[in-house]
Amino acid sequence: MERTSIGIILNGVTGRMGYRQHLVRSLLAIREQGGLPARDGSRIWPELTLVGRNEAKLAEIAARHGLTSYTTDLDAALADDSHQIYFDAQVTAQREKAIRAAIEAGKHIYTEKPLAEGLTGSLELARLAAAKGVKNGVVQDKLFLPGLRKLKRLVDSGFFGRILSVRGEFGYWVFEGDWQDAQRPSWNYRAEDGGGITVDMFPHWHYVLEQIFAPVTAVTAHIATHIPERVDETGQTYRATADDAAYGIFELAGGITAQINSSWAVRVYRDELVEFQVDGTHGSAVAGLRECRIQHRGATPMPVWNPDLPVTEPFRAQWQTVPDNEDFDNGFKVQWEAFLRHVVDDEPFPWDFLAGARGVQLAEAGLLSAREGRRVEIEEIRL
Ligand SMILES: NC(=O)c1ccc[n+]([C@@H]2O[C@H](COP(=O)([O-])OP(=O)(O)OC[C@H]3O[C@@H](n4cnc5c(N)ncnc54)[C@H](O)[C@@H]3O)[C@@H](O)[C@H]2O)c1
Repeated sequence: MERTSIGIILNGVTGRMGYRQHLVRSLLAIREQGGLPARDGSRIWPELTLVGRNEAKLAEIAARHGLTSYTTDLDAALADDSHQIYFDAQVTAQREKAIRAAIEAGKHIYTEKPLAEGLTGSLELARLAAAKGVKNGVVQDKLFLPGLRKLKRLVDSGFFGRILSVRGEFGYWVFEGDWQDAQRPSWNYRAEDGGGITVDMFPHWHYVLEQIFAPVTAVTAHIATHIPERVDETGQTYRATADDAAYGIFELAGGITAQINSSWAVRVYRDELVEFQVDGTHGSAVAGLRECRIQHRGATPMPVWNPDLPVTEPFRAQWQTVPDNEDFDNGFKVQWEAFLRHVVDDEPFPWDFLAGARGVQLAEAGLLSAREGRRVEIEEIRL
């Protein structure tokens, strides 16, 4: 079958996200399935060029996956007309200047979140990309997870009646790095390197809330650095200058209250690493990454508060599992496919730089709220 080759520069491919989710689980998986059907009957075929700082590591990854194109020279890759798309999964602090160069070079751009470290920089990227006429997108992977897709299905069906509140619990214990290695990179715990759980997670919560429920209109946040000292990848002790927990209250349009705890200093007593409970007048749901359970108003028990008695109801057993009803592919891959169709066939792609900038705006507003101890309203941003 005829191929429509599309040249993609992958920057940051030696990192956790760049390698596992974007290279292996998305782009190589698309090649393994024989490409992606395009409207003209051909197959969209990603041609990959790996970019990074360490040539030996790039060569090793390329060889492992039968790829031949890699370079440590981003400018040269951007100057090459056979590349139509620039993708960025570098550490956050390196992103903005690379994306600026890619816009300048006229590439379409897809990037990990957060789009940039601050709202000003993010909005500027959105405006520059619009002015240059390049297509652009930001990863919003959680929207494509089975659990959240089922939750969206419930919202669309009217299951909840009037939605009252959303409470989210995200987190797990990230080891300090001394007696057991840390399972996240050390830059995550240094503010000066773009770290911090608020800038990491609030962009996710922004698109989840906005796209499944309603736009966020205000935030009140409290943040903390619970573990002040950690040990890095080289065994050096360092001071954690960034927040490792963020406790946020988000007000949504239409009167919904969302409250989400994010923490890298919490031990998991949940079914999944993130869970959202949604309560509505007609029913409630608890959604994780994969599963979603519901309780309809007609099946809601009537607990009576009496601490003198043992628990009388098997509360968890009273919920019903929402069936899959469809095949769920890897969320990163599904969004990559949408972006490739956007570039090749001009299919709609709502998860653009402006959407990414709104996520950064929420993170900035959360940090401001925590710093000043007050509620911060979210103003609408435009190109
Ligand atoms: N969508 C998600 O769920 C999700 C999850 C985790 C991280 N992320 C985002 O992905 C990006 C990468 O995160 P990660 O966890 O893969 O990080 P990582 O530390 O594992 O990888 C970082 C990559 O950036 C490269 N890099 C370029 N310049 C660098 C510099 N000056 N210092 C250090 N590394 C440099 C590294 O070589 C590596 O390839 C971040 O922006 C992060 O916010 C997204």
